[in-house]
Amino acid sequence: MIFDIKKDLFTLFQKQNIVLSLSYRQIMGEQLAEGLAYTTPLMVGLIDTLLSNLNMMAYNLLQNSIDEAKGAARVHLIAERHATDPLKKEMFRHAGDEMRHSRLFAKMIANTGYEYEEVPDTKEIERATNAVLEFDDDLYAFICRVHSIEIRSWVMLRHYLYILGKYPNENVRAMIPIFEEILDDEIRHVVYTGKWVNKWLEENGSLASTLSECVAHTNRETWHDVSSMANYMVTADRNSDEVPKDFARLTAGRWERTEQT
Ligand SMILES: [Fe+2]
Ligand SMILES: [Fe+2]
Repeated sequence: MIFDIKKDLFTLFQKQNIVLSLSYRQIMGEQLAEGLAYTTPLMVGLIDTLLSNLNMMAYNLLQNSIDEAKGAARVHLIAERHATDPLKKEMFRHAGDEMRHSRLFAKMIANTGYEYEEVPDTKEIERATNAVLEFDDDLYAFICRVHSIEIRSWVMLRHYLYILGKYPNENVRAMIPIFEEILDDEIRHVVYTGKWVNKWLEENGSLASTLSECVAHTNRETWHDVSSMANYMVTADRNSDEVPKDFARLTAGRWERTEQT
């Protein structure tokens, strides 16, 4: 199932009675166009394949758990350093949500029949948090970036839900309400970050190119993720009893890659 994310995004704001600026509409209209990595059939097929066996599913849940913890740490750090109320409050709530998601993803690993040792490496999370320093002097750019990532999370979770809905295994289907709960939060994150970005765009036109670049960047980054996911298939031991330990290989990405542009 392929989503028309541009249309869905505009409708979402309309339902919240948020009037979108022309600038926001134009940028998102251009950037959320066809061929966006996370709306391609290729991505749906990859997720379908990744979830096609319980070992890979466990691995994927663990990865998500780590990514969410990293996201929480970054949002919290930037809120603490740079934001003022009411944005600060919203960002703290956001960080709390992502931390809860991290725990939920980790907990769902049990539904696959696999176990995990302690979600590892505070070091990895610490490293990712430090990578955020790149945004340290620019709250606006940070929120633009987060906005583009939340849109992607929203779409990706809908792909997961669609695929999980087809799964015959009852324990796996039991994850669906938890995914739905996480999806509700991600939608809220899309809305509040979008609300701020939209407001700032009206006050300061120079943010337009930042937002545009952030969405384009998230798209490029997602193509990297697609290739990492495909690469994982090369080495995945689909019959192993253990969740692979070297998940860092796949999770190292996201924000760290930001530094390269
Ligand atoms: Fe999340
Ligand atoms: Fe989120």
